[in-house]
Amino acid sequence: MECFEGDAFGSLDHFRLIERPIPVPESHQVRIRIEATALGFVDGLMVQGRYQIRPPLPYVPGGEIAGVVDAVGPGVGHLDVGDRVVTWQLGGGLSEYTVVAADEVETVPAGLPLANAAAMLVDYQTAHYALFERGRIAAGETVLIAGAAGGVGSAAIQLAARAGAYVVALASTPEKRELVLALGAKAAIAPGGDDIRGAIMAAAPRGVVDVVVDPVGGAGFEALFRSLAKEGRHLVIGFAGGAIPTLPANLPLLKSAALVGVEIRHYLASRPLEAGAVRAALFGDAASGALAGAPDRPVPPRPGPGRAGCTLAA
Ligand SMILES: NC(=O)c1ccc[n+]([C@@H]2O[C@H](COP(=O)([O-])OP(=O)(O)OC[C@H]3O[C@@H](n4cnc5c(N)ncnc54)[C@H](OP(=O)(O)O)[C@@H]3O)[C@@H](O)[C@H]2O)c1
Repeated sequence: MECFEGDAFGSLDHFRLIERPIPVPESHQVRIRIEATALGFVDGLMVQGRYQIRPPLPYVPGGEIAGVVDAVGPGVGHLDVGDRVVTWQLGGGLSEYTVVAADEVETVPAGLPLANAAAMLVDYQTAHYALFERGRIAAGETVLIAGAAGGVGSAAIQLAARAGAYVVALASTPEKRELVLALGAKAAIAPGGDDIRGAIMAAAPRGVVDVVVDPVGGAGFEALFRSLAKEGRHLVIGFAGGAIPTLPANLPLLKSAALVGVEIRHYLASRPLEAGAVRAALFGDAASGALAGAPDRPVPPRPGPGRAGCTLAA
């Protein structure tokens, strides 16, 4: 089989397409013939060796993997050859096949394309956990979403809007602002303006926001926190903007507001049954069309039998 493998982190120069033997599943493992792999911000960090977890070398990028089970090891009860499945691993997706633990694999409902399942896997769960568990959003509240056209942001727009929140989105280009409005935001603002707080005040119905969904961090962080209403919640999800910001501790006090961390791996590890139910509901809604789970830039497979395609999510 072909896979895109690297022998060092730092840059894509260390990675190349190579031939490897097709792996054989051992006890309690399954082999997946990969049909789609979602690539997002985290995969870029992985390849650079800058993610919080460093996988072992050699490394095949792509953690959000969807495909069809084509071999089953001894002791596997709940999966069969031919099942359409998805799994979240540290890597292995940019390959024709991968072997994983069967209990880390779940089936994808009929009607949901495998590429969409891969693209939704982490971003939609993260957005759901952020909004409903950590942010405790309620209908009628105003939710400000930074990096709103990105993977986490675009999922958050849809989930917040359908929960009855008034969504204000930050997006840097006219095309991204058009996208976020189409996904359900009521207002779209460019993040880099001189008076971002003024723009947020003008866009929010009460002049303040109840929740900030923040996968960006960076220089605009404090202005977003200052836009919160009393008892507001600023959800810290990531730092796509580069810098990890700091916040004067008097600001949460003055607003009775909270700076709230969101870590999806903690949620998945600590509440696996609940997380599985959320995932199943999200997949079901995407399969029925109640949620748009489509990746926006599918990359077709290279010609040839059994070639894996991949999906660039956002
Ligand atoms: N806490 C968790 O459990 C968890 C889970 C998943 C992801 N994350 C983190 O969340 C962050 C966003 O992930 P994502 O998948 O949504 O990423 P993404 O699809 O690349 O979107 C990130 C958005 O951030 C904005 N941005 C601002 N400055 C940027 C810069 N210097 N480089 C790239 N983007 C920049 C961009 O929007 P504009 O162009 O509109 O500014 C972009 O659309 C990452 O840091 C990721 O590691 C955390």
